[in-house]
Amino acid sequence: MAIREKGAEPGSHIGVHWKEEDYYEPRPSFTAQANLTDESVFERFSLENFPHYFEEYARLLDWFKHWEKTFDDSNPPFWRWFVGGELNVSYNCLDRHLKDRRSQTALYFVPEPEDEPIVKYTYYELWRRVNEVAALLRDFAGLKKGDRVTIHMPMMAELPITMLACTRLGVIHNVVFGGFTGKAAADRSMDAGSRLLITADGYYRNGKWLDHKAKADETVKICEEHGLHLEKVLIWQRYPGKYSSDTPLVEGRDYIINDLLPRYRHQVVEPVRVKSEEPMFLMYTSGSTGKPKGVQHSTGGYLSYVTAMAKYYLDIHPEDVYFCMADIGWITGHSFIVYGPLSVGGTTIVYEGVPTYPDAGRPWRIAEELGVTIFHTSPTALRSLRKAGPEEPLKYQHQFKLMVTVGEPIEPDVWRWYYHVVGKEKAVIVDTWWQTETGGFLIVQAPALQKMKPGSAGPGVMGIHPVILDEEGNEIPPGSGKAGYLCIRNPWPGAMQTLWGDPDRYVRGYYAKFNKNPQSKDWRDWPYMSGDSAMQAEDGYFRILGRIDDVITVSGHRLGTKEIENAALTVPQVAEAAIVAAPDEIKGSVPHLYVVLHPGYEPTPELAQLIRETVAREISPIARPDKVFMVPDLPKTRSGKIMRRILAAISRGDKDLGDVTTLANPEVVGEIQAHVQKSLR
Ligand code: PRX
Repeated sequence: MAIREKGAEPGSHIGVHWKEEDYYEPRPSFTAQANLTDESVFERFSLENFPHYFEEYARLLDWFKHWEKTFDDSNPPFWRWFVGGELNVSYNCLDRHLKDRRSQTALYFVPEPEDEPIVKYTYYELWRRVNEVAALLRDFAGLKKGDRVTIHMPMMAELPITMLACTRLGVIHNVVFGGFTGKAAADRSMDAGSRLLITADGYYRNGKWLDHKAKADETVKICEEHGLHLEKVLIWQRYPGKYSSDTPLVEGRDYIINDLLPRYRHQVVEPVRVKSEEPMFLMYTSGSTGKPKGVQHSTGGYLSYVTAMAKYYLDIHPEDVYFCMADIGWITGHSFIVYGPLSVGGTTIVYEGVPTYPDAGRPWRIAEELGVTIFHTSPTALRSLRKAGPEEPLKYQHQFKLMVTVGEPIEPDVWRWYYHVVGKEKAVIVDTWWQTETGGFLIVQAPALQKMKPGSAGPGVMGIHPVILDEEGNEIPPGSGKAGYLCIRNPWPGAMQTLWGDPDRYVRGYYAKFNKNPQSKDWRDWPYMSGDSAMQAEDGYFRILGRIDDVITVSGHRLGTKEIENAALTVPQVAEAAIVAAPDEIKGSVPHLYVVLHPGYEPTPELAQLIRETVAREISPIARPDKVFMVPDLPKTRSGKIMRRILAAISRGDKDLGDVTTLANPEVVGEIQAHVQKSLR
């Protein structure tokens, strides 16, 4: 598996240069109300008590039938959790709350146009809608337990409603991010073998109306060409009662859900009993190479895990209003907009649009308006909010108790802005490290029990025992100043079960590297390899350096992309930075740095020189960028990740940059390319 960068010497260690940051303490007012305050928890969740400590997670759910075996390890690394147990996900997210929280708001839908009213669903209303949609999926679409269905929808309340309706029937949902193309939905439908596509007519994004139904036609066409017949396309209307797409409906194939629903009015669908180990959903994620991988999550293990994380690490109480700006089309949205928050009976928000529309005050206005207490976003969103409105949060009366960051390492400087300006020095920050494959958080500091440290995610969450291994599988001790492969010693209930239809790739990609005996039945011989590099400080906190394949090698030294970018960001004029390796005859490769400046600054040769020298000073002369390109924007995915791959291709001078159509800002690619070609000439 290509996890080590091509050309790197086996055994060469990753050079790491970073400063220790000061600790920040949680406020006593937070600690006083927190869900996780029991200091003995880490003793109880120590490795010698594995796997039984995870029963505490499973007990947070209502089971139709209690499990017989907590952990089945008879076929490593295909673990099974809470075997023999039966439950239903939608029952746990809805029905069980009706007694105490019938009229509490379960979900707000916030449209992107600010003049459109916010739509509110109580737990009762959400339960009712989910039952009606489940009846429709069962009786009109003929879906039953174990079927796969592709859901290609934008951020609208009907997305979680559809997902919950699937789980009510035990149908395996395969949600494709709304911003992806029809082709992406087709590839995923074909791999998953879904017979049905659920979509929407359109939505607002960054002030523009996007016709989404057009993509469904493309999906069906591509599937047909490859021999998969999608029997029906079910379409939600963004404005109920009004079809708002220019794309015509295909007779006998396309059906408007809103038109069909009255037939199922007031129907109640008995929640189907699903075995704990039966799959709940698929989520495709890209690997370092090859086709997307269908990460398969279980029912009982996954739901137990995300429920515990929502309760203990997001600290959601029923009275909290929780706002996560991720997209439900990603794992963060699945686990922490939909399933975790609803399972613990909280109030969650589905926001249609982009964080900075119509201006950088939007998230803070939503927070102020709805009384948001917990806020969840990514470093990229924070950087763009800070760039567009550094003082903006101070103008609003919102007050968060907890703020979350996820998806990439957060620069200490951005962390401090989050803490001081967005959180007004009153909110706890949790930097949550995890992956699509892991279902829920793996490394986070416990918000009331452990101190915050900017730029470090923290120690393992309760029950998770991370370790850093070197190329040969030897443990790198904390405080050694060396980075290595971030691995998890023990299995956990939220972990993926396999890759759909490709169990070999699952074993190869995540477990084979550090397994010394493929015949071993002992879970201790099967550490999970995350594909990230990290280092562990003396205090046990992990600092994530990025994907192993994001590591660049310069003159035989391996440098984490993030640390170079962090150094560049210490230059006050720099708003965003991305480093890539460009080929060099002498050194193998040299760093090329792409930066976006804060408004009001002009690119000058002096500034480029200042940035180069700052990186050289902060890290080492080896890391000094060979070139600094000051560009208007960086290419980003719709989920906000900087696409270094595209920048690397531009730096290499590739003519073909691959598919850029799924980017949030494809137009910027040509501009960057022209700029780089001119200056390299
Ligand atoms: O490199 C790590 C980074 O995002 C990767 C997982 O991406 P994905 O499966 O899309 O899931 C994103 C949401 C969980 C990881 O391998 N990553 C995620 N969280 C952090 C992070 N890097 C640093 N700090 C984090 N908190």
